[in-house]
Amino acid sequence: MAAAVEVHDLQKRYGTLAAVDGIDFTVSPGTVFAFLGPNGAGKTTTTEILEGLRNRTAGTVSVLGLDPWSQGVALHRRIGVIPQDFRFFEKITPKEAIEYYRTLFHTVRDPHALLERVELADKANARFESLSGGQKQKLGLALSLVNDPEICFLDEPTTGLDPHARRSIWAVIRALRKEGRTVFLTTHYLEEAELLADRVAIIHHGRIIASGTPNEIIEKYGGPERLRVEAPPSLASYLTTKLGIPASAEDGRVEIELHSKEDALKVLSTIDASGIPWHGFETRHDTLEDVFVRLVGQMDEGALRSEGSA
Ligand SMILES: Nc1ncnc2c1ncn2[C@@H]1O[C@H](COP(=O)(O)OP(=O)(O)OP(=O)(O)O)[C@@H](O)[C@H]1O
Ligand SMILES: [Mg+2]
Repeated sequence: MAAAVEVHDLQKRYGTLAAVDGIDFTVSPGTVFAFLGPNGAGKTTTTEILEGLRNRTAGTVSVLGLDPWSQGVALHRRIGVIPQDFRFFEKITPKEAIEYYRTLFHTVRDPHALLERVELADKANARFESLSGGQKQKLGLALSLVNDPEICFLDEPTTGLDPHARRSIWAVIRALRKEGRTVFLTTHYLEEAELLADRVAIIHHGRIIASGTPNEIIEKYGGPERLRVEAPPSLASYLTTKLGIPASAEDGRVEIELHSKEDALKVLSTIDASGIPWHGFETRHDTLEDVFVRLVGQMDEGALRSEGSA
């Protein structure tokens, strides 16, 4: 099946700044693709190039088989977009906003059903200026669905939302995927990407530094499983001395790496025999967020070192 999005050697310069510096990726139809990266990494720039809102400096881009810049008119009928920091006319109500979009797209989707879908039906007649931040985001999501899009580009759709509102947006994203639509998502909530995305790419200073399924990235860049107990820091040094396995102490907890099942048994019996008081234990794998923080941190440290040696 043809890719929903195909990007090859994409570059975008703003003056001397290479905001997107030669990236490649593909998004398969009917999947959720999460595009992750720290502030200023190049996510919105890339997203808006895919939406046909900004032109690229170089490279090839295909969205639903179309070039977003030269074939934008044909593309815009087939995609849904929530820009980062979605804003609308202050005096318009959600119902009127949807009516307005329906006229633009000549569609007949029922405004009430769309508002129900994003749990905003009770605010159908409230003015935009009176909506909370989360309700405005939900309206943005509803508007992005008016034209029954094949791909939805959602640039930080859950930023600033409370945990319940965030979960209701996740439910919509899952439903979109189930309906066979493609979702291109940017987010700073790594947990969200880990839960929702089929594939992710991490961009940093305009370059992709990791890509794959969340599990592939965690396997490739994550550390070993760790056992964690509540105990004083003295337990960490005791375990390292006794077992020769790295252990660390922070915030009243001691963590020790586990490289095998046997390690787990050895560690627990050594803790028990130490005479040091301890409580409850859990084992912990790296999350996508742990890996993201480590990878971005390593890249920044490397850049600082090379600046220092220059
Ligand atoms: N119109 C513009 N003119 C000049 N520089 C720009 C412009 N838009 C973005 N930039 C710069 O390009 C870089 C990438 O910005 P972009 O908005 O794509 O980042 P982002 O990954 O979306 O960040 P965030 O997570 O903060 O939204 C930043 O250094 C930004 O300052
Ligand atoms: Mg952005």
